[in-house]
Formats: sequence, structure tokens, C-alpha cells
Amino acid sequence: MIEFTLNGTPVHAADDPVMPLLWWLREVAALTGTKFGCGVAQCGACTVHLDGRPVRACVTPLSAAAGTNVTTIEGLASPAGKAVRNAWAELDVVQCGYCQSGQIMSAAALLAAKPEPADADIDEAMHGNLCRCATYQRIRAAIHAAAARLAGTAA
Ligand code: FES
Ligand code: FES
Repeated sequence: MIEFTLNGTPVHAADDPVMPLLWWLREVAALTGTKFGCGVAQCGACTVHLDGRPVRACVTPLSAAAGTNVTTIEGLASPAGKAVRNAWAELDVVQCGYCQSGQIMSAAALLAAKPEPADADIDEAMHGNLCRCATYQRIRAAIHAAAARLAGTAA
């Protein structure tokens, strides 16, 4: 039995411990906001948080969730998470949308760790999240807007 907290709710999973967390989230927990892209930790579409740390769920075994707080896009309700989601909507970041839950999860983790990131910090935190629609400029702008909102300096 693997026990952890999923989006604030205690979970007891009696599933294969080597199952990728991404599979478990989508197929068992029916949380389909987290996407399958590459399956080999190269695109970031599957990014979720384990204790606030961004991880690639496609290469994270279910067993790694034991004892942690797992957060998916459906449960992202932290101040940084809310600021990012609001900034994404205000700046109309999304194009096709497929990569965007992963982008938001990485951005929220960045702002939780570094509330006023420089462009270099954003590049470092986000370089593993690919976007086929090339929304990178809007993502950067939205992260700065979310940081300003968190700092209370937004216009
Ligand atoms: S699906 Fe996990 S990084 Fe691409
Ligand atoms: S918005 Fe289409 S892949 Fe990023």
C-alpha cells in the first residue's frame, strides 16, 4: 500500500509501485490535466509537484509518492499557483494548450522558491518545458506578471 496526499486528500494506493505516477494520476485517479508528451523526461508536459518540487511524472514511479504531498494542475491552489494561473489567463498565454499544465506547474514551483525571478532564473526553471506552439515569450511575461502580483507591485 502506498500512502500519500493528493491535492489535499489522503490516498491509499494498492497499485504496482513501479507504475509511472503519470499513469496512475490519469488512469487510476482520473486526473487528466497532467499530460503525456514524450514519456522520457524531455518535454515537461507531465510536470507535477512532490512536496512543492516539480517532477516529471512520466519517469517518477508511484512508489516515489509515498509520504509526500502530490499536487497536480487540478489542485494547484497555493498563492504562487493562483498568481500564475491568473497571469496565464490575463496574458492569454495558451495556444493549443497541451503543454500548459506542465508549464504552469513549473512556473508555480519557480515562484514559490524565488518570488522575484530574473530572466535567467526563468530560463533555468522553464527550459525543460517545451511548447510546440512557441508561447515562450508570453510564458516569460506571465511569470513576471505573476511575480509582480505576488509582490503587490502589479499595475
Ligand atoms: S511526458 Fe514526461 S517529460 Fe515528457
Ligand atoms: S500551447 Fe501548444 S504546445 Fe504549448
